[in-house]
Amino acid sequence: MRDAAVIATALLGWYDRHARVLPWRVPPGGGRADPYRVWLSEVMLQQTTVAAVKGYFLRFTTLWPTVHDLAAAPDAAVMAEWAGLGYYARARNLIACARAVAAAGGRFPDSADGLRALPGIGPYTAAAIAAIAFEQPETVVDGNVERVVARLFAVETPLPAAKAKLRDLAAILTPALRPGDYAQAMMDLGATICTPRNPACGICPLIHHCAARVAGIAADLPRRTPKAPKPQRSGTVWVGLTRDAVLTETRPERGLLGGVLAFPSTGWDGSDLPPPAVAGWRKIGEVRHVFTHFTLNLTVMRGTLTGPPERGGLIPLRDFDAGALPGLMRKVWVLAQPDAKG
Ligand code: ADE
Repeated sequence: MRDAAVIATALLGWYDRHARVLPWRVPPGGGRADPYRVWLSEVMLQQTTVAAVKGYFLRFTTLWPTVHDLAAAPDAAVMAEWAGLGYYARARNLIACARAVAAAGGRFPDSADGLRALPGIGPYTAAAIAAIAFEQPETVVDGNVERVVARLFAVETPLPAAKAKLRDLAAILTPALRPGDYAQAMMDLGATICTPRNPACGICPLIHHCAARVAGIAADLPRRTPKAPKPQRSGTVWVGLTRDAVLTETRPERGLLGGVLAFPSTGWDGSDLPPPAVAGWRKIGEVRHVFTHFTLNLTVMRGTLTGPPERGGLIPLRDFDAGALPGLMRKVWVLAQPDAKG
């Protein structure tokens, strides 16, 4: 396409002046990024915002500055540091990937295909790492990039049907030179200027190339086929206490919140389980949590144990770190505090 090189050059020029400063990022023209830091940031950024990831990234890289350090860390320490970031399968894959890379000498593969063979690295993450850490001209397409491209070319086909077309157009734009900076420039443009609502077209470096702008429909794109509403699920969770301990269990490795610390609960799919201990259980409220594929409403019960638990284990309160709980269970714990509700 005639304009592809002009668009990439305009975007890179804008990035040179306006790149966001992010902890995992090497500034424009600042040389190669450390593949370990790029990989770690990209895994954290799967399904999580830049603002939420920053602190986690800084803590992880302080605790584990290299892939060898992370590979040698105990699983429980990594899971506890991950707590709150969500999508815990990512943390388990992170550990598996670090160990695979460390076992192979500590070097990450430098191609998207090589990267995809590692645990937890899908097509998007492989392309992002290959472009940013290894200057491979891979096309990195996430929701932001889809939006930018849909507007640039005024693609009116709704998502998700438009996905393949948007990917093809994004690939045509990707330059052979500075593909890593280009990928991050697209992300920054989508995050700061070509935003979902009220795009700041007046200060956009691509304003003269944008077909949606000419047609006056930039803010309406991309169009989307309406989604079916999320299913609702429900269950019960029990916060069991003794004078100086709290009842917890590690969730099964497979399934939602797999392998993480939690309070005992029923299944969340209608499957029932009895309370984990004899206690004077009292309902103290409900918490609601939105997962990718459903919304969960959990009834929270609190009680004081009058005998040993039938499942789970008692953790002394002085050793109990609510910060190591996933977000859903933190909500449960906050609700279960005696001063939060009678
Ligand atoms: N989202 C996914 N990867 C990103 C990156 N490298 N920088 C900013 N946002 C991102």
